[in-house]
Amino acid sequence: MAETPKAPAETIAEKLLPFALPDVGSAEARAMTRSLRSGWLTSGPEVKAFESEFATLTGAREAIAVNSCTAALHLALAAWDIGADDAVLVPDLTFVASAEVITYSGALPIVLDVNRADYLLDGETVERFLKEQCDTSGAHPVHRASKKTVRAIIPVHYGGRPCDLDQLSEIAKRHKLKLLEDAAHAFPTYYAGRILGTHSDATAFSFYATKNLTTGEGGMLTTDDSEFADRVRRMRLHGIRGQTYGRQRWQYDVVDQGFKYNMMDPCAAIGRVQLKRTAETLEKRKLIHAAYDRAFARLQGVRLTPRTPHESAFHLYTIELGPGARLSRDEFVDEMYRRGIAVSLHFIPIHRLTYYRDAYGLSAQQFPNAEEIFQRICSLPIYSALKMRNVRHVIEAVRELLG
Ligand SMILES: Cc1ncc(COP(=O)(O)O)c(C=O)c1O
Repeated sequence: MAETPKAPAETIAEKLLPFALPDVGSAEARAMTRSLRSGWLTSGPEVKAFESEFATLTGAREAIAVNSCTAALHLALAAWDIGADDAVLVPDLTFVASAEVITYSGALPIVLDVNRADYLLDGETVERFLKEQCDTSGAHPVHRASKKTVRAIIPVHYGGRPCDLDQLSEIAKRHKLKLLEDAAHAFPTYYAGRILGTHSDATAFSFYATKNLTTGEGGMLTTDDSEFADRVRRMRLHGIRGQTYGRQRWQYDVVDQGFKYNMMDPCAAIGRVQLKRTAETLEKRKLIHAAYDRAFARLQGVRLTPRTPHESAFHLYTIELGPGARLSRDEFVDEMYRRGIAVSLHFIPIHRLTYYRDAYGLSAQQFPNAEEIFQRICSLPIYSALKMRNVRHVIEAVRELLG
């Protein structure tokens, strides 16, 4: 009799402890199968229900499901008509998607350094940029060098730890800028005791395979502005008035510029199960985070994940290897792989990516904080599907190498 093939996850884990694995089980499989058999493969009742449940959980008036966080970010900028005459502020220490979406409509990404202590974009940096490099006498700030109008800020909640939204919101309001949170890592993050999703003009979440809540590929945009949400809904599906689900017969009209960004029903079906498991999966990541914090507290020259005054979603566990550490970051990563443990790096800063460096004239000197963080940082496995015996294995390896 043929051997039962192993699930890909087991096959990988035997060779190398993966850096990340989705935590999907039989409940997600059943929900997806039910959805597949329902006849709705594209956006249908599951998407509608997922949006409604996500809106309820976050308290947002509107939740719009799309096929990635990248799509959610792009749609928000597009629905605000941010285009070729405009500029948008984005931190250097992020995944390329946060900057890339700004370029889709020809707007200028203005990349700012992050705070050395917590790796986040802070209000002082934004304020300094506006004061020193912009003319702020008109309705919106105008970037002197490029003559572009600064229209929005995209703060990134790196690792699930929130930026100072009070400070950024105040600056955004004062300068008539839209605040679009990149919350790809930040579900569920609690800022001032309230879950993210309603703290700014719009919040974009990622449900990519490695994220805290996954639908395989997927994303969600939340907002309290219903008019803006209507436009985002239209634009995610070709600019068509009235969506596939609920459309009458053959009639349709295109009333806006559109994109093809809608979420599939089977993905939403997975997402609905994952949403119910939010507390359980958060608890597990929290447990791993605390175990790492305890185990690594005394390592020489090693800086652990910065603390936040707010409640993190514990998406990443980073360590920085300073000059006093026993190994350099690169030596450490090599040794971890040799011990069968995958380690990752968040992020190669935007200024180091060839396209952005060349197209926008970026260099390391402009971003001393992100550059130094990049030289020293790496991320250890932290995900709800990680077994505690594997957590112990990671701890032993790290202590052996850096203790
Ligand atoms: C900070 C950040 N923003 C945006 C994204 C894009 O998310 P998605 O893959 O869902 O488009 C990612 C993905 O890893 C990310 O890390």
